[in-house]
Amino acid sequence: MSSQKCVNLILIGPPGAGKGTVAPKLNEDYGVTHLSTGDMLRAVIQSGLPLGQKIKEVIDSGKLVNDELMGEMILAAIRDCKRGFLLDGFPRNEKQAEMLCNILSKEGLKLDTVIELCVPDELLVTRICGRLLHTSSGRTYHETFCPPKLPNKDDVTGEDLCRRSDDNEPALKKRLEVFHTQTAPLIEYYKKLKLHAMVDASCSPEEVYTQVRAILDQK
Ligand code: AP5
Repeated sequence: MSSQKCVNLILIGPPGAGKGTVAPKLNEDYGVTHLSTGDMLRAVIQSGLPLGQKIKEVIDSGKLVNDELMGEMILAAIRDCKRGFLLDGFPRNEKQAEMLCNILSKEGLKLDTVIELCVPDELLVTRICGRLLHTSSGRTYHETFCPPKLPNKDDVTGEDLCRRSDDNEPALKKRLEVFHTQTAPLIEYYKKLKLHAMVDASCSPEEVYTQVRAILDQK
């Protein structure tokens, strides 16, 4: 695929698979808009609205936020994606996959590919518990695998990095359970639609990105 062509894709994978690591590179190389439902929800929490407190409680418990709210957020965001969209964190269950299907048909859009980032669960604890986040941009680092240039500072703005309140072992256990029971079945759904492609996301971020690019270059 030429980097000039418009592409609409989903990145699907467990917490810590690397969706948020791959997405900014695809935005840079292909111009696709990164739509991270996790980032959108964290922005609501940051805004101080009463809804934010409810959302925070759900996120910290590792469960899923209300489907209708997620559908509304995606509908509003997808309309502005002139050079294609990259969905990170949506859909997360069968109901959301149906919502997405309806949104795309209503907006006259079509999905080009669904890329599964495949990583064994045992690697995810280290990735999640070492993650550092720049809240306002959503940029992620890792204290060992992807350290910032200066300790605990964002490379671009120099602002402090923080840790997500759901990045701990008990919440991760629940998030993984939710992924395996509710989100992973969507992989079969997209296989049937012949949209699924798989990447071995247990290797280095550079190797993961090379595999993702190879898939897009075949489109
Ligand atoms: P969300 O923010 O979407 O979290 P997630 O899906 O659990 O995924 P993560 O952001 O944790 O992982 P990632 O794959 O992006 O990993 P990253 O690239 O940062 O959702 C959070 C919560 O919001 C949900 O639990 C739910 O409550 C709610 N929510 C969101 N969407 C929803 C929806 N649609 N419906 C209902 N509720 C919803 O990488 C992780 C770390 O590993 C980083 O430190 C990174 O540097 C490092 N790393 C990345 N790749 C590699 C590599 N190849 N090798 C070594 N280290 C790596």
